[in-house]
Amino acid sequence: MTKDYRELIQPLLDWYPDHHRDLPWRNTTDPYCIWVSEIMLQQTRVEAVKPYYHNFLEQLPDIKSLASCPEDQLMKLWEGLGYYSRVRNMQKAARILVDEYEGRMPADYDKILSLPGIGAYTAGAISSIAFQLPHAAVDGNVLRILTRAREDARVTDEDKTRDCIRTDLEDALREMKTENYGMFNQAMMELGATVCLPKGEARCDECPWNKDCEARKHHTIDQYPVRKKKKARRIEEKTVLLIRDGSRVLIEKRPKKGLLAGLYQFPNLEGRAGEKEIVSYLRELGLDPLRMTEIGQAKHIFSHVEWHMQGYEVRVSDLTGFDIPSEKSKCLLADIEQVSREIAIPSAFRFYAEQLGLEIGMKNRP
Ligand code: ADE
Repeated sequence: MTKDYRELIQPLLDWYPDHHRDLPWRNTTDPYCIWVSEIMLQQTRVEAVKPYYHNFLEQLPDIKSLASCPEDQLMKLWEGLGYYSRVRNMQKAARILVDEYEGRMPADYDKILSLPGIGAYTAGAISSIAFQLPHAAVDGNVLRILTRAREDARVTDEDKTRDCIRTDLEDALREMKTENYGMFNQAMMELGATVCLPKGEARCDECPWNKDCEARKHHTIDQYPVRKKKKARRIEEKTVLLIRDGSRVLIEKRPKKGLLAGLYQFPNLEGRAGEKEIVSYLRELGLDPLRMTEIGQAKHIFSHVEWHMQGYEVRVSDLTGFDIPSEKSKCLLADIEQVSREIAIPSAFRFYAEQLGLEIGMKNRP
């Protein structure tokens, strides 16, 4: 099924200059900066991304520095943003760019698309915004505005729908000889983010498409986009232990593969462990707790799983020289100050980190 988007292009290009937000990544055409911003903006809100964007570019100002960044430092720069494979893939891609393209992003859509972690959306965004190449960038926001404008009832989380919408849009853009592809794609994102909002919040009176929008005409805005029903998330119970003395705490590195791979966490037991189970775990580590206090429950929602956690603070008199037998545990002793500076703890543990006075990520930074 082909959709005609030609009538939508000019009104959007006319609307954008006076209606867009001034966002940090809009003052540049540097493909590296655009790439960093687009990867951060997948699954993360604009306001949350801003401090990370500035900090990341300050620490890793170019593709070369990203390629050679040590893993723990890279994870710390991403701490709190979630979906850490995004930044691991960026580093893999940066290494390819250093090896094969002299550390520069090529001005070529197919080459950009072939890099790890870059799909059609990101390749479209980078190639149009940085290089003005004639490609569309179709993400969730864009699917919402286009399916509403054309009362398009295809299921938007299927690849073939996305591919079809992208191809039709690119055909329209090329036919209309639009010159500023980057501006057009940003205008689509802006309309989705500020006007054509989800969940009954659409501000149709402010929309440059309001006369040509099929869903507006037929009062069906909230029926679009059509999505597949999502599977319910699996629930996992955990018992989280803050094992500490005055200034130090035990942490451990998560496995190399799977959820939150390679990040650090507080030691934890599967399920709701009772006091007996916890004490026997501590004894195995050779620890003799002075005091154990329940410190509350926390919940963290990932895309496919929810963690329901119960936490305990375990006070021991002195962890100095503490040497944990490696076959029993992967625990490491860390200074709380050092964790704050160097160690990436995922936001799933935010509630417990805060009990130690630790802030996760850049949430409260300017
Ligand atoms: N969401 C994804 N990409 C974006 C961008 N470049 N500006 C604003 N929001 C976005």
